[in-house]
Amino acid sequence: MTGVLAVAGGTASGKSTLAEALSLQCPESIALIHLDDYYVPAHDPLKGVWTVSADGHAVLDWNHPGSIDETAVTRAIDAALLRPGVLLVVVEGLFALSLPSVVRRAAWRVYVDTPDDIRLARKILRKIEAQRQDPRLSLRNYLQTGRDRHAAHVAPSRSAADLVVDGTASEAEMLAAVMPLIGPALTPLPAAPSRARGVRGATRTPGIPVFAL
Ligand SMILES: Nc1ncnc2c1ncn2[C@@H]1O[C@H](COP(=O)(O)OP(=O)(O)O)[C@@H](O)[C@H]1O
Ligand SMILES: [Mg+2]
Repeated sequence: MTGVLAVAGGTASGKSTLAEALSLQCPESIALIHLDDYYVPAHDPLKGVWTVSADGHAVLDWNHPGSIDETAVTRAIDAALLRPGVLLVVVEGLFALSLPSVVRRAAWRVYVDTPDDIRLARKILRKIEAQRQDPRLSLRNYLQTGRDRHAAHVAPSRSAADLVVDGTASEAEMLAAVMPLIGPALTPLPAAPSRARGVRGATRTPGIPVFAL
């Protein structure tokens, strides 16, 4: 049976790293949904939750679950659950354990826990290295709203997790912590005996995924 794994955690805790590593273990059987892809349009002030950025502009509040299009996310999850061959749908993002309709669908709930100082350092490095962005604005936004939003909307969702993963561990260690939880979902049941050909007891042995940990 197909199930949903929700992976939550703070910004730069390692959610996407873990979710992508998981999906690489079994790409044909795992559908990956990034909540980052489901923000409401950032140019429509009538949608989502808005805030004032540290440089004085009205902007969509990326750190608020009310800025996610929850209907679109649930539609995507439900469509992925019906896709042939999919055994596991992984939903990863800040609010994977805060959005009620995602939590309701999740058979397994994981929170990637990484200390705030490490998350902030990773985020600032990413801003500088990947986006060539002046980190001062991110730091001011973090002080102005980001830190409080994490405390209000992300950190409390840790209590909804079946498993808390140490986000300072290596990628392989994070994977090894999660696999026992979802491994059985990735092992398809043996096919029923083939009656069409009249071969009694004949079964197809499905490919059992091999996890390269
Ligand atoms: N377990 C880890 N150990 C060291 N660095 C990590 C680990 N997980 C993620 N990172 C690094 O931290 C940054 C943020 O990771 P990412 O998975 O994108 O976080 P998130 O999706 O939670 O925002 C990336 O540069 C990534 O390479
Ligand atoms: Mg991410």
